[in-house]
Amino acid sequence: MKRRVRVGVAGATGAVGLEMLRVLEERSFPVEELTAMASGRGEDRSVEFAGADVRVVPLTEESLAGLDIVLFATGASVSREFVPAAAAAGAVAIDNSRAFRMDTDVPLIVPEVNPQAMVGHGGVIANPNCSTIQIALPLEVVRREAGLVRVVASTYQSVSGTGLAAIEELADQSRAVLDGEPVVSEVYPTQIAFNCLPHIDDFDEEGHTREERKMIDETRKILEMPGLGMAVTCVRVPVFRSHAVTLNVEMEHPLDPAEARAVLSAAPGIRVLDDPESVAYPTQVDAGGTDDVWVGRIRRDESVRNGLWMWVVADNLRKGAALNAVQIAELLINELPD
Ligand SMILES: NC(=O)c1ccc[n+]([C@@H]2O[C@H](COP(=O)([O-])OP(=O)(O)OC[C@H]3O[C@@H](n4cnc5c(N)ncnc54)[C@H](OP(=O)(O)O)[C@@H]3O)[C@@H](O)[C@H]2O)c1
Repeated sequence: MKRRVRVGVAGATGAVGLEMLRVLEERSFPVEELTAMASGRGEDRSVEFAGADVRVVPLTEESLAGLDIVLFATGASVSREFVPAAAAAGAVAIDNSRAFRMDTDVPLIVPEVNPQAMVGHGGVIANPNCSTIQIALPLEVVRREAGLVRVVASTYQSVSGTGLAAIEELADQSRAVLDGEPVVSEVYPTQIAFNCLPHIDDFDEEGHTREERKMIDETRKILEMPGLGMAVTCVRVPVFRSHAVTLNVEMEHPLDPAEARAVLSAAPGIRVLDDPESVAYPTQVDAGGTDDVWVGRIRRDESVRNGLWMWVVADNLRKGAALNAVQIAELLINELPD
C-alpha cells in the first residue's frame, strides 16, 4: 500500500470536477487531504467529499503549494496559467483541457492503451478529449489484432461535454419548446433542444471544427500512428450525458465480427453488448454513470476489403474525463516514493 497523497482538484465546482470527487471517493483513492479549488467568484462554497463538506478555495499559486497530485478540470486558458505552477511547486498535474495535449514533452494517456508513455513525464500529464478516449480503447484492440489502415468516426455528443451551463440550457430549452415559449440560446449558437448541431468548438479555414481536429491529432498521438488515415465529424445532440460514436475501421488483415466481439470483450475497460435481435445494443442512457466503454452493432463493412463498423458509447464525464484522470493518478501513486 502506497502512502496517502495530498490531492488538489482545480475546477472542483464544474461538471468534470464534481465527477472527479465522486470517482476519487468511489475508488478509495488514498487521499490524505483534499484541496478543492475554483474561480473564487461569488459566495463561499463547499463541495462534498468522503462525507465531509470541503471549502472551495480560489485557484492560486498559494493554494497549489504542498500538493502531490493536482487534477485540473478547468478550461484551457486557466490550465495554461496554473498547470505549470502546480508542476513547479512539486506536484504532478493531470490536465483535462486541450492546453497541453499535443505538446511533444507531455504524455497524453489512456491507461488501458498507452500507460508506457507516462515514463519520464515532466510533471504534466494530459487527459485526452472525451470522444478520443472512448474510441482509443476499441481502436487499440483492432490495431493489435488486425492492423489499422483508416478510421472514419461520427460523434453524437451530449451537452454535459460542454459543462454545467449547457446541461441547464438543454433542460430550459426543452421545457420552453414543450410549453410553447421562446427558446433562449446562450451556451450554443442555436437551439440544442430537439435538434442536432454539426458544430463543436470553432471552425478552421478548411471547414473542420477544432473538436474534429482534436480527435484526429490526439488519436494519432495516443496510438503512436502519426500517419493514420482518419476522418471525423462531431455532432452535438440533445442528450444530457454520454457520447456515442459510429466507428468505421479499415484494417490490414481480416477480422470478422465474431472475432472482433471476442477480442473486444476480453479487453480491459470495454463491455460488448451486441445482439440487435434481442434489442441488445448500448445507448447513451445505458452508459450514463458507468465506467465502461460499451461497444455494439459490430458488423462487416462490405465496401472495403477488410472493414468493420462499431457503435461505441461511454459516459463523457467518467471515462471521457474524471475516471480516466483518476486512473492516471492511480498509475502515478505506484511510482511516488513511499
Ligand atoms: N465535460 C466533459 O465531458 C469534458 C470531457 C473532457 C474534458 N473536459 C474539459 O474539462 C475542463 C472542464 O470542463 P467542465 O465541463 O467541467 O466545465 P464547467 O462545468 O464549466 O466547469 C468549469 C470549472 O472551472 C472553474 N473555473 C472557471 N474559471 C476559473 C478560474 N479563473 N480559476 C479557477 N477555476 C476556474 C469553474 O469554477 P467556478 O464554479 O468558480 O466558475 C468550474 O469549477 C475543460 O477544459 C473541458 O474542455 C470536459
